[in-house]
Formats: sequence, C-alpha cells, structure tokens
Amino acid sequence: MRTLKMVSGTIAGLALGMSGAMADAPDPDSIFDEVSRGDAQSVTESVCLQCHGAGVMGAAGVGEDHNETWQSLVEARGYEGLYESVLNGRGAMPARGGADISDEEVAASLVYMLTESGVDKEDLK
Ligand code: HEC
Repeated sequence: MRTLKMVSGTIAGLALGMSGAMADAPDPDSIFDEVSRGDAQSVTESVCLQCHGAGVMGAAGVGEDHNETWQSLVEARGYEGLYESVLNGRGAMPARGGADISDEEVAASLVYMLTESGVDKEDLK
C-alpha cells in the first residue's frame, strides 16, 4: 500500500475499493462520519484501554509518549494490516478487543488511538 501515498486521494479511494478482497478496511478519512470521534473515544476507553491504557501483556499505550511505537507499527503493517490485527486478533489481543463491536467501531477506535498518539491521518493510506 506504500505506493498509494503517491497517488491522489480520489484514486486512493478507488484503489482501496479494489483491494477489498484483501482487507476491506473502512476508509480512515471518513470513518468519523460513520462513528463520531466522541463515540470512537468511548469505545476506545471502554474496550481498548483496558489493555492499551495499562500496558497489559505488552499492549502499547496511547498518547504522544507512544508515538514512535505506533508510527513504526503503521510503517510495518500499514493501516489495513493494523485493522486486520484488531479485527481478527493478534497475539494476546482477542478479535475486536474481545468486545461485540462493529467493523466501523473497530476502525474508528483504531484511528482514534493512532491519531491520539500523534500519527498523521495522511499516513493511514
Ligand atoms: C485484552 C487486551 C487488549 C484489548 C482489549 C485490546 N488490545 Fe490491542 N493489543 C493487545 C496486545 C497484547 C497487543 C500486542 C499483540 C502482539 O503483537 O503480540 C495489541 C496490539 C494492538 C495493535 C497492533 C497490532 C499489530 O498488527 O501489531 C493495535 C493496532 C491494537 N492493538 C489496537 C487495539 C484496538 C483499536 C482495541 C480496541 C478495539 C484494542 N487494541 C483492544 C491487547 C489488547
């Protein structure tokens, strides 16, 4: 997905649709139109921070102090890769953080956590 950075936003949107077979992650640019940032914050606080707020089992914390960790995860896996990790679970993290949340809520809490940690939305393509 790295090459997508070089094409314009509209083409990136199209390409995202075409790569749907691989991931089908909700568009990070418009995710807060579907799940408000406030709702994303609520999901993050009630679900994700149970681990990511307390460093449980090595889960990365949220906030500017943890920017480097998240930045390198974004570079390693891309937004879609991280989305899939949360959707399907990874290591000690259960699928969807172990909660009954929608695909959009997964994406919104992911984008919320990343941007709260100082990751630029522009890097989530
Ligand atoms: C039960 C504890 C727990 C909960 C709840 C949880 N996580 Fe995690 N998360 C972890 C752990 C542990 C890891 C490290 C997994 C690994 O790489 O072994 C992780 C890793 C991640 C990663 C990095 C994935 C990767 O590909 O390296 C992201 C992104 C993430 N969590 C987002 C979220 C979001 C968003 C939520 C809320 C919807 C959430 N997590 C809820 C424990 C949790």
